[in-house]
Amino acid sequence: MRIILGVGGGIAAYKVASLLRLFTEAGHDVTVIPTEAATRFVGTATWEALSGKPVSNSVFDDVEKVNHVRLGHEADLIVVAPATADLLAKAATGQAGDLLTNTLLMAHGPVLFAPAMHSEMWQHPATRANVETLRSRGATVLEPAVGRLTGADSGPGRLPEPEVIFDAALALAGAAAVPSAGNAPGPLAGRTVTITAGGTREALDPVRFLGNRSSGKQGAALAQAALDAGARVRFLAAHMDVEPPSGVELVRVESALELREAALAAAPESDVVIMAAAVADFRPAEVSDTKIKKKDDQDAPLLRLVRNPDILRELVEQRGSAAVGGKHSSQLIVGFAAETGDADGDVLEHARAKLARKGCDLLVVNHVGIGRVFGQDETSVVILSGHGAGPQSAAGSKADVAAAVIDRIGAELERVSPAG
Ligand code: CTP
Repeated sequence: MRIILGVGGGIAAYKVASLLRLFTEAGHDVTVIPTEAATRFVGTATWEALSGKPVSNSVFDDVEKVNHVRLGHEADLIVVAPATADLLAKAATGQAGDLLTNTLLMAHGPVLFAPAMHSEMWQHPATRANVETLRSRGATVLEPAVGRLTGADSGPGRLPEPEVIFDAALALAGAAAVPSAGNAPGPLAGRTVTITAGGTREALDPVRFLGNRSSGKQGAALAQAALDAGARVRFLAAHMDVEPPSGVELVRVESALELREAALAAAPESDVVIMAAAVADFRPAEVSDTKIKKKDDQDAPLLRLVRNPDILRELVEQRGSAAVGGKHSSQLIVGFAAETGDADGDVLEHARAKLARKGCDLLVVNHVGIGRVFGQDETSVVILSGHGAGPQSAAGSKADVAAAVIDRIGAELERVSPAG
């Protein structure tokens, strides 16, 4: 997708570098247009390096390419962040003094503004009127986040987090973001499926982490199977040994806490959430800002760990506490369990207990030993249902197992909320 990222002159411009990263890592072609004031906060070189393209805010650069007309025409999506009070006013009154405002006037695709300013400016009747005008013309103006502002004050006016803007932008561009997403024929046509995959990494210091053996292959296979079934796929990837399939809306995360934030944000817009990621149950209690050094006169350090939140259980709780209606009321939540039998019970007994504990709708159970499932291409699973249906087995390549899981999800969805 071709995205224009307009950057306004506010301190929050530095956060937009992360937003740019999210767009480019998801495979989008981004042209950055900072305003003159924006370049006082973050220089042109940063935008050029991160986007891999030349950056200008002047209508008089590359005049032969007629950029002031072409960029807006060709963009599939325009995102303005931070949208300052000044930029909102210029856009609402149709001013065209620089390349960004020209581009906004020439927009053919959806336009998203992510405001950031002091609370009084946001609440001022002039800004309220400008926001209303822009919304009435079809633009999306996000609500700013509430919290600490640049000075000692706090209130509404913080730039929404880059992940929130990213999700909103892709949701706005909808099917245009991924041409086949949600539009291809198939049992999951029109459905949005969020899949987490890979293994989280829990930082100890800037160079070390606690990780696990998850390769992300099963999650990638599930994403491909969901795309093949016609779904729009949001793919939240922790560390993976394989590339995510093309066609997904990709969000990269590192730690369990980052994955939690991305999953809870994506879930409300999802018909299905599949937790295939191997989430670390514990993280180091302290993360050192600098590399931990060995010292001859000191014992080896002791690591103290703290529990990570259980994301799967929180997703189930979030669904339960959401207002009835929307995607939540019929949302399907699927967990994965890597189990070994032990003195307290066999694999299936442990799995049934886990299904009850987590409260999800389906639990896909693997039997794990080192080298037995992690990283291997062949696998076998049992799918347990929380709604009384008997267990179902599937075996073969990870693609075969993924197709069986997606089939079963399609059947469950059809039962709780028939398509069309
Ligand atoms: N999971 C999660 N958050 C965690 C740990 C696990 O959402 N902090 C999810 C996994 O993505 C998977 C399911 O929960 O879908 C089961 O993961 P597993 O590691 O088998 O379960 P645990 O809760 O860690 O159970 P236990 O340690 O008791 O085996």
